[in-house]
This record gives sequence, structure tokens and C-alpha cells, in this order.
Amino acid sequence: MINKQGATRLSVREVTMVATMIAIIIVLGMFPGIPLGFIPVPIVLQNMGVMIAGELLGPKQGSLAVWLFLILVALGLPLLSGGRGGIATMIGPTGGYIVAWVLVPLLIGISLKGVSRHRQPNWVIEYLIVWLFGVLFVDGLGAVWVSAQSHMTMVESLTSSLTFIPGDTIKAVISVILVRRLRRALSYF
Ligand code: BTN
Repeated sequence: MINKQGATRLSVREVTMVATMIAIIIVLGMFPGIPLGFIPVPIVLQNMGVMIAGELLGPKQGSLAVWLFLILVALGLPLLSGGRGGIATMIGPTGGYIVAWVLVPLLIGISLKGVSRHRQPNWVIEYLIVWLFGVLFVDGLGAVWVSAQSHMTMVESLTSSLTFIPGDTIKAVISVILVRRLRRALSYF
């Protein structure tokens, strides 16, 4: 919705969707992370929420949801997996993954709009976009940060981060199936 000054204002439906998305990301954080001995980064479910934000809400509102969620975390609310919060957690070894999360809705949302503006994108193309940005990009950027933040070399952190790819690939599949159903149910196309 655009007002007389040309500024974009969110409709009630859009505000509701952003709030719901934040709630979904918070709920996914209630599942405790699974620690891995060889990399200081747990297996979590919250990254699936970030993928869903970009797919369902698009670049602007999806990013808004993830930004607001991370602002709450930065303010100290224990909303990351395992009940963690605060700036210190966000710039620790998992900081690269979190920085990538901020960009995921933008990248997924813009790409999906690029391939299909007015109808459901082809599911294969949609899946490839989600996997590229929601899985490969996040796990790659996260691994680079890990090597800068820990004793691990770049090769060690990149190879260790490969461990996340199978699980994150499954999360991407689930998110695409879920979002394509939700779009139909919510008459998004
Ligand atoms: C945090 O809670 O501090 C952020 C955790 C980041 C975990 C990353 S997200 C991508 C990859 N897949 C996972 O299951 N874990 C890592």
C-alpha cells in the first residue's frame, strides 16, 4: 500500500503476515540446537523459517520479519535455538550464518519475483532458488565466518559446514512444499 507521500505502508494483512512469520521463526527456535563436536555451530531449525520468510512474504516483508526477529535477539531476548540471545551470541562463531539469514529473504524473494511475478513459480525453479540462497549461500558464508572466529582453517570450516547441507536440503524441500500450499490457501496467486 502506498500513501500520498509515496511512502510504502503495510496493510493489516501484511502486518499480520510479518508478525506471524516472526512467531514461526521464534517457535522453530524452541527446538534446541544439536551440537556437533567438530564445528562450533549447532544443527537448528530456525534457518527453515528464514527460507519460508523469503518464499512466502517476498523480499521486503520477508526481510522485515527477519530483521525484526534479529533486533529482538540483539536486544537480549533468548530467541535463538537453545534460548540464546544478545549481541555477543550474534557475533560469535555462528555470526556468519546469522548475517546470511538477513540476506536470504531478499535474495530468495527477488529471484522468485524475477522468475514469476503473478503465479506460482515452477516448483523446480523455486526449489533451486531456495537451495542456492537458503542452503548453499548460508552454509558457505557461515563457514567463512567460522574460520575467522575460531582455530579452524578455511578448508576445515568449509568441509565441516558440508555436514549441514543434507539436513538443510531437506528443510528447503519442506519449506517449498509448505509455502506452495500456503500460497494457494491464502490466495497469494
Ligand atoms: C545461532 O543460533 O546462533 C545460529 C545458528 C546457525 C546454524 C546454521 S544455519 C545453517 C546451518 N544449518 C544448521 O542446521 N545449522 C547451521
